[in-house]
Formats: sequence, structure tokens, C-alpha cells
Amino acid sequence: MPYLLNRHRRLRMNSSMRKMVRETSLKPQDFIYPLFVTAGEQVKQPIESMSGVYQLSVDNLKGEVETALSAGIRAVLLFGIPSYKDEIGSSAYHSGEPVQQAVTLLKEKYPELLVITDVCLCEYTSHGHCGVVEDGTVLNDPTLELLSRVALSHAEAGADVVAPSDMMDGRVKAIREALDREGFSRVAILSYSAKYASAFYGPFREAAGSAPEFGDRRSYQMDPPNVREALKEVSADLDEGADMIMVKPALSYLDVISRVKAETRVPLVAYHVSGEYSMIKAAAKMGWLEEKAAVLEVLTSIKRAGADCIITYNAVQAAQWMQAE
Ligand code: PBG
Repeated sequence: MPYLLNRHRRLRMNSSMRKMVRETSLKPQDFIYPLFVTAGEQVKQPIESMSGVYQLSVDNLKGEVETALSAGIRAVLLFGIPSYKDEIGSSAYHSGEPVQQAVTLLKEKYPELLVITDVCLCEYTSHGHCGVVEDGTVLNDPTLELLSRVALSHAEAGADVVAPSDMMDGRVKAIREALDREGFSRVAILSYSAKYASAFYGPFREAAGSAPEFGDRRSYQMDPPNVREALKEVSADLDEGADMIMVKPALSYLDVISRVKAETRVPLVAYHVSGEYSMIKAAAKMGWLEEKAAVLEVLTSIKRAGADCIITYNAVQAAQWMQAE
């Protein structure tokens, strides 16, 4: 028998031992649950490319949110499908639109629920870009004023956190100034700091009806091969007053999460995006993967890479699985 000083398997011998020495653990409070809020009443419209995800009208949010709360989820991220679209996305800042209505309702009914709103224009503009378009180009500076109006309308409705996802330069500063000027210094900013021009947003664009009508988003979202640039984006957002930062997507960018984590001192949120969600759903449906194990492994990997919180469509399901363990 060989004499081995190190028998690594000793620490893997049974479930209690494995649990005791586990380095990373998931908690329901780590998750932020995205919801798609649409105009109308009694709407629960399944999203074909995202099995298990729905567009919900404001009156249908309650059930979904109560299920989430009882699974231990503490935060939601709201996206809107507006009642109309125009060139400048003006429905993004109207108080009667789904997101503003939803925020008010949720904060009234569930004061302890953290309500985060996505601040962008692509769901609201007729051309589907995240800013003002002139001659086929997305203009930076004129977009800032619109984004500030959107953020302000969410704050007025009662949002706790606004999350700009447009990738225009200077938007965190513009939004911080607008919020503070209007008396909303308590509202936090979660900036989508390192948001890449990714193929994994495909299903979301069906969910939110936000596919660009022409071109793509490469002139404002980040180029996937770059990581130093992510650090630059993060530090600029922090200088502008971001309270929390985000890396998005998560899975193909675990190295970015890890690098950003090493260099910043604020909460780091990772967005496990629609394509990452649907990929596992599809494989599980074919019987090629075991869904629960695959989802929990993926979410753990995102946390292990350094994320403090994870935005995921699997939030409720994963929290329920964890509760049952
Ligand atoms: C809006 C926005 C997008 C996502 C979040 N906010 C789409 C995009 O940038 O095209 C993607 C989320 C997902 O895929 O789950 N700008």
C-alpha cells in the first residue's frame, strides 16, 4: 500500500464533510429576479424563447412576487413593455406606463421588497436602439437627458435602485445629478458597467420586444474580447457615483467578474442573461442535461468567480430547490 500524506478525498467522504468545507454557497438573497411588465390587464403571455418566463400585466405581478418572496428572494428587476413606442422612447418616462405603475404597486404592497428598475430606451424606441438616433447613429449626449428623465420617473414612482443598461458615456453622472437635484439622493444606482455586445441576449429581445430595427449595438456595448476596458468602464462609473456595478453576461465573462472583483470595493452584480438561461432549458428539455444540477452549478460558478449578487431568471426555481435541500 503506498504511503500518501495527502488524501484529498478525506474531505469529500460524505455530504456533511463536503458541506462543512464548501467554499462557496448560494443564498436566495443573492438573487435578483427579473420581471417583464406589460400594459393591459390579466396578461400572462409566455415568452416562447424563454420557457417558464412570462410578460405580466401589473395586476398579475402579485402572485409572482409572493411566490418569489416566500422562496426568500428579496429583490426584483423590472423591464417594461410599453403601450406605445416613438423615436425618442418617451413612453419610458411616463408615469402611467407599466414599469412606473408596477413600482408604485409593489412598494405599496411589499415595502420590504427591493425594487430595481432597468433604465434604457431600447424597449421604448421605434427603432429599438438604446438612445437617440440621427442618420443611423446613436447619439450619446442627447440620450443622457432622456435617460435621466427615465430614472427620475422610476424614482418618483418609488424605485429603490435604478439600473442604467444603455452603455452611453456619462450616464451615471447625469442620472446621479438629476436624482439628487430632485430630492432622490436615497435612490441607489446599479450601473451595467461592463455590458458586452453579446449573442446571448437573443431571447430577451423577444421577451422585451427590443431587437434593433437596423444594425447592432456594437457601437455602444463592449467588444467581447476586451477585459482591461471593463476595468476602465467600472472605474469611470464609480467616479461618476455608481453604488453597485454589473458585469453582463455572466458565463462567458467569468474572468471579467473575477478581475473586476479583485479591483473594486463595491457590490458586484452579474447578469446571468436570457441566452444562458434558455440554453440549459433547451438542453434539459431534450433530456441532455439535468436541469436542477446544471442551474445550481452555473449559479455557483458565477458566485465563485466573485459576484455578490446574480440577476437570474432561475431565481425563484433555484431558491425553491435550495430550500428543499
Ligand atoms: C436593455 C437590456 C438588454 C438586456 C438587459 N437590458 C438587451 C440588450 O442590451 O440588447 C439583456 C438581458 C438578457 O438577455 O437577459 N438594453
